[in-house]
This record gives sequence, C-alpha cells and structure tokens, in this order.
Amino acid sequence: MLEQQADRIMQLSEWEERWQDNKIGFHQPAIHRMLQINYNAVVNGRSSVRFFFPLCGKAVDMKWLADLGHSVVGVEISEMAIRQFFQENNMTYSEESLPSLPGATLFQNSEKNISLYQCDVFSFSSSVAGQFGAIWDRGSLVAINPKDRERYAALILSLMGGDCRYLLDTLLYNPDLYKGPPFFVPDKQVQSLFGEFQLQHVAENTLIPTISPVEGDPGYILGLQDSFNLPALELNQIRSSCQTFY
Ligand SMILES: C[S@@+](CC[C@H](N)C(=O)[O-])C[C@H]1O[C@@H](n2cnc3c(N)ncnc32)[C@H](O)[C@@H]1O
Repeated sequence: MLEQQADRIMQLSEWEERWQDNKIGFHQPAIHRMLQINYNAVVNGRSSVRFFFPLCGKAVDMKWLADLGHSVVGVEISEMAIRQFFQENNMTYSEESLPSLPGATLFQNSEKNISLYQCDVFSFSSSVAGQFGAIWDRGSLVAINPKDRERYAALILSLMGGDCRYLLDTLLYNPDLYKGPPFFVPDKQVQSLFGEFQLQHVAENTLIPTISPVEGDPGYILGLQDSFNLPALELNQIRSSCQTFY
C-alpha cells in the first residue's frame, strides 16, 4: 500500500507556489473539530502548555490555543502563510533573522506568545526552541514527502518533552486513486513510527460533505470533515484517523 506514493516528492518551492496561487484547500477557517474534541486529553489539566505546530500554515487553531493561555511555536516554509496568519487574526508581529538558523526568519507576537519560524522543518530542532508539552499535527505528517517520514518522526520525538502529548490527524484512502499530498499514512506505519509511546486511537471517521453542528447527534462525529481537496476521490472514499501519543 505504500509503494504507490513512495517516490512522490513535493519541493518546498511547490508549497510556496501553492500559497502564492492561493491553492490552499487544506486551510480551514474554523477551529479543527479533532483539536476541540481532544483538547482536554491533550492538555491533561496543565496550564500554559507549550504547543508545537509542525508545518503550521495559517491554522486558526494557533490563535485559539493562545487565547486559552497556551504558547505556540510553529514552523512553516511559506512566508506568505505566516504573514497572512498574523494579518487575518489582527495581530501585530515582529520579525527577525536568526544567526543560529541561517535563512530562517522568526515572526512573533509576544502578547499572545506565538512564535512562527519561517524555515524548512528539517532545519528546526530542540536547540532552537526547546521541547514541547503538546504537538498538534494536522496536515503535517501527511504533507511530508514519504521518503522523509522516518526522519520527520525522529524530529518530532526529539521535540517531545517528558510530559508531551501528541495529537495526530491522518487521512486514510486508497493510494491507487490519488497520489497526494496529503499522503496516505496507514495506521500501521503510524504505530511503527511512534509506537514507543502509548498510543490511543481516538477517532476514525468517514468524511461526509456536511458538518452537523448538533452536539449529541451521531452525525456530529460522522460529520467531521477535513477540507483537503482530493479531486480524484469521493468524500466517502476517505476516512480520517486521529490518535494521541504520550
Ligand atoms: C497541508 S498544509 C497544512 C497546514 C496546517 N497544518 C493546517 O492544518 O492548515 C502543509 C503546510 O506545510 C508547509 N510545508 C511543507 N513542507 C514543509 C517543510 N519541509 N518545512 C516547513 N513547512 C513545510 C506548506 O507550505 C503548507 O503550508
């Protein structure tokens, strides 16, 4: 199941072009339901948790967590995405280049404690911003080129502090039908990448085109929809899989 996409490579410049061309079907204007539903499990009673967003885009989840008193560090290759994040959330920001990370720029809003590093995630490490108490991986592992998956997992593991909780959202579909990204990462591989941690499978949902906002309605869970644009697939051919690790 993995060989179909094994050699597929998205260059960083292609991601930047997607932002310039506004081809960002992955971006969601609302807080991700999986984060909301699993928030308590991830925070686990702690306050002021340091959250890491690998491949953060302009996820509004970052602002939501910051408003709840947590701090946020994100990494994103597209400068445009980072500027749009601050602008669209009406936040001022500073920017500085980092001698310790050549080519990278740090964009920060210190009032909300949000720091976004514009760089390749593979040049980021715990020596740049320490380790984290929580990681929200939505659209990240699934966007990393398949050949770099083990390297990415090693980086994530090195960024996890002792009490870290890692929430991961992946998409399950038939890779014969769609070449990615988002790439197909079967749960079995997730287990082998991160299996040294206690793994809890928190949800698996068939994606359907509408979100039912009514709490308690069975459609509430079934209605979780990830807005990735997978043109070759019908929505009922995609499932989302969400797990936590600690
Ligand atoms: C599928 S999007 C997900 C964005 C965000 N997590 C969200 O849920 O909206 C993947 C993002 O990762 C960025 N990206 C891809 N490869 C990267 C890399 N190696 N280092 C840093 N950012 C990268 C892309 O520009 C894009 O914004």
